[in-house]
Amino acid sequence: MSLSRRAWLGGAGVALAAAGAAWADEPPLRDLAAAKGLRFGSAIGGRSFGDAQVRALVAAQCALVVPENELKWQALRPAPGVFAFDRADAILGWAAQTGLAVRGHNLFWTAPKWFPAWVNSYDFGSRPASEAERLIVEHVTTVVTRYGARIGSWDVVNEAIDPATGELRANAFTPYLGERCLDIAFHAARAAAPRAQMVYNDYMGWEAGNERHRAGVLRLLGRLKARGVPVDALGVQSHLGPGDLPTAPLDRAQPEAWRRFLGEATGMDLGLLVTEFDVDDRGVPGDVATRDAEVAAYAKAYLDLTLSFPQLRDVLCWGLDDRYSWLQSRSPRADGARKRGCPYGEDLRPKPLRAAMAEAFRAAPRR
Ligand code: G3I
Repeated sequence: MSLSRRAWLGGAGVALAAAGAAWADEPPLRDLAAAKGLRFGSAIGGRSFGDAQVRALVAAQCALVVPENELKWQALRPAPGVFAFDRADAILGWAAQTGLAVRGHNLFWTAPKWFPAWVNSYDFGSRPASEAERLIVEHVTTVVTRYGARIGSWDVVNEAIDPATGELRANAFTPYLGERCLDIAFHAARAAAPRAQMVYNDYMGWEAGNERHRAGVLRLLGRLKARGVPVDALGVQSHLGPGDLPTAPLDRAQPEAWRRFLGEATGMDLGLLVTEFDVDDRGVPGDVATRDAEVAAYAKAYLDLTLSFPQLRDVLCWGLDDRYSWLQSRSPRADGARKRGCPYGEDLRPKPLRAAMAEAFRAAPRR
């Protein structure tokens, strides 16, 4: 059953909209989260990392950061055998100076379009399975070893399940290795950083339409566990909203299905992380105040449910601000307005979504 729109507009939205002027004096989200045994963080990178105001906001609010793009194959691997670490190093250096912990995203993003072109046309030679394994191990070992103890949690495998089928996505490696390419990545990561948390990260959501995706991810996690693959936690990306649909209102949540999904994942002895939280409001009509209230209340309902699992330890936004959010370059709103899916606005001032997150942390059980 869907969570009705009225249910979240009713109480939370109104109270949050009324919170108004008090925001300036709010404690950092980092502290509100820490009071419950949670770490709060955000992605930063590219243009947002180049903006001193955003760096200051992230430093003020967060306990940890994740480079948005700089640790991906497309950023690190311009050519076979070549690693370009300068952009990732710059973020890691700033994080160290600023006292921020760092997550690593990601070591093996399985869809072909997110590999550099040279991988997709790679000649795997006469022993293709060995060469495919060598390439994955070389990449994972080199990247994880470089950052050693500085990165305590890695998205080892990202988005391996096709949402339409619930089955493994194909890529340049799968003809030779099948699903074993994921095992190889996890084993290499664990060998290179035995104490780091190894995460499977994906975007199966709580909205209707995610049924196959959720089921496919659970099946994959079950197979990985059964094979003894060192996966420690499930990263739930948490890009709330219409997902891959052209547009849709925020009334498609399936809280009971989501509770069951998280229960089954944690039942496999996996930890949980919210790795990429934001809300795509392209289907939410109305003026700014109306949109903000609806987004805030929807997010609060999601966080309340998700945070009720004590296995959840980290909550990261995919950017704190609407100024640089990837949502701006995704399917636009029909009215052409900028999206408002992050806790801080274009002007970097807190919005009702920020208040909703604070309330969710305050209401969360201690862990
Ligand atoms: O840096 C180049 C720039 O030099 C060039 O001029 C420009 C022209 O298009 O592209 C720039 O790179 C873009 C990069 O973002 C930085 O803005 C890439 O084209 C673009 O594909 C890339 O998009 C990122 C996307 O992942 C693909 O890597 C988004 O910023 C990033 O937010 C998004 O993040 C993903 C997570 O990794 C996984 N989960 C979903 C999430 C949202 O899609």
